[in-house]
Amino acid sequence: MKTFVVANQKGGVGKTTTVMNLGAALAIKGKKTLLIDLDPQANLSSGLGFTQQFDKDSWNSTDEAPYKSVYDVLIDKEPLSSVFVATSTANLFLVPSHLSLAGAEIEMVNIISRETLLKKAIEGMSEEFDYVIIDCPPSLGLLTINALCAADKLLIPIQCEYFALEGLGQLIETTKLIKGVNANLKIGGVILTMFDSRTKLSESVVKDVKDFFKDVAFKSIVPRNVRLSESPSHGKTIFQYDDKSTGAMAYKKLANEFIKRFS
Ligand SMILES: Nc1ncnc2c1ncn2[C@@H]1O[C@H](COP(=O)(O)OP(=O)(O)OP(=O)(O)O)[C@@H](O)[C@H]1O
Ligand SMILES: [Mg+2]
Repeated sequence: MKTFVVANQKGGVGKTTTVMNLGAALAIKGKKTLLIDLDPQANLSSGLGFTQQFDKDSWNSTDEAPYKSVYDVLIDKEPLSSVFVATSTANLFLVPSHLSLAGAEIEMVNIISRETLLKKAIEGMSEEFDYVIIDCPPSLGLLTINALCAADKLLIPIQCEYFALEGLGQLIETTKLIKGVNANLKIGGVILTMFDSRTKLSESVVKDVKDFFKDVAFKSIVPRNVRLSESPSHGKTIFQYDDKSTGAMAYKKLANEFIKRFS
């Protein structure tokens, strides 16, 4: 079982879209895959159709989540096995997030070994998956640190836009610091996202990233594709929403490259 963390503290670079659709492509190819939503925004969960109940009058999330979440794992020591759910894609499973996770970073401060709560939960799981893929919030707080500690490989999505490489230095520094707690963590790959063939800028970001990361950068590049941005609002993966789209094809190619690299 290999564990991956998808992280970049820059917001909106395609972390969640990548976890959801790379995960779905791997599952379709027969790889039993567990996705963990470690972001209080819960975009991955809602994109897969696991939506929180909201109280429309106050715009607050109602107290009771309709399902257990990663919050229960981190704070209440609930085993992962009793929290993950099957999604509508065969072989694809999800540990959902919940708004309550927003408070978890503060609650975790007083817990001993707070950096390794997720790692222990994954190690304690009796089910076997081919891949576990963790989606992170856009920050380098305790939640992301838990993901970095739990994973073998770091995957970094980079949006093909100006300032793309900004903040990456910080992520790489953090990765080095994490080696104190998780000596295994290596950069597994860099994924270029939202490529726009009409702009010179996209081309130059691709060149910079390939020069900097060399073979670590995946050859499959994800294009900007409106179908990818529409599918989560229907609670569907790109393969359920529009299997023929350029976005779907890109994530299928990425999954092939991923399986070759990590088998
Ligand atoms: N290849 C793409 N083409 C078009 N739109 C995309 C693509 N990838 C992501 N998007 C859209 O861009 C926005 C940001 O993507 P996403 O939520 O995956 O990023 P993120 O890094 O997870 O963001 P956050 O840091 O807030 O968690 C979303 O609205 C998403 O639907
Ligand atoms: Mg996200």
